[in-house]
Amino acid sequence: VAQFAVFGHPIAHSLSPTIHQAFARQFEIELTYRAIDVEPAGFAAAVRRFFADGGRGANVTLPHKAAAFALADERSVAATRAGSANVLTALVAGRLAAHNTDGDGLVRDLTERHGLDLRGHTALLLGAGGAAHGVAWNLLDAGVATLTIVSRTATSADALADAIGEPARAHTRYWSDLAGIGSYDLIVNATSAGVLGVSLQLPPSLVGARALCYDLSYGTAASSFLSWATTAGARYAFDGLGMLVETAADAFALWHGRRPDTEPVYQALRRQSA
Ligand code: ATR
Repeated sequence: VAQFAVFGHPIAHSLSPTIHQAFARQFEIELTYRAIDVEPAGFAAAVRRFFADGGRGANVTLPHKAAAFALADERSVAATRAGSANVLTALVAGRLAAHNTDGDGLVRDLTERHGLDLRGHTALLLGAGGAAHGVAWNLLDAGVATLTIVSRTATSADALADAIGEPARAHTRYWSDLAGIGSYDLIVNATSAGVLGVSLQLPPSLVGARALCYDLSYGTAASSFLSWATTAGARYAFDGLGMLVETAADAFALWHGRRPDTEPVYQALRRQSA
């Protein structure tokens, strides 16, 4: 039986094993899919052991995405520009391929599941860490008119904008100026504040008429941002559950050569989390 896993720290509450088993049932594929909790210092060794023991593929989540990118032998374009990977795949001769499917998953959730067109949107990206790097280019590829990157630490926002290298479309503002930078059509929360149990203090003036607000996390980690968005008048306020299922489907397609139907899996998880 082919072996798969997700590496993270913490990882106990990961939905990835459930999602991959549900996809596998659609094709009557048998597989094992474990959640492996490992601290950063032990990550590379744990990954090597998993693949040496016959592992075929692994998802990687916080805080290991940059380390996963670094240890791979081959890297996709999306992983290279983000500098991080959420998928590792066994190649021949013990080599590993790194992919990053986060940004594709976000855009597919918005455009396909929710039927939204991002073209022409003014977009505000909150945060400039790993999660923000994973989605910034995909938002531009999806046709947002401008991408304004705001990070508590200004240098990290500048670094992301520099890496994108399209100053006319992607630029930064200061976190301390959030109340004075106007309103946006699309606001993506890519900070880790929610995961850390902290509420962002965001001015309602950021939320434009008919705005779309999206938190890359899901469950209780997303609730503070989404209730702020709703109170501020957002037309849509989505958590990242749909993105999670879409990114998992990309990994599944890489590993099994077949794309699962994400909608029933998404709906079942949504009912459970309701
Ligand atoms: P991830 O991989 O989840 O993106 P990360 O790389 O540590 O995690 O990035 C977290 C982002 O959330 C950073 O931009 C961080 O800002 P700092 O660089 O200033 O730490 C941002 N962040 C975390 N907590 C925050 C808070 N309370 N307010 C504003 N930004 C916050």
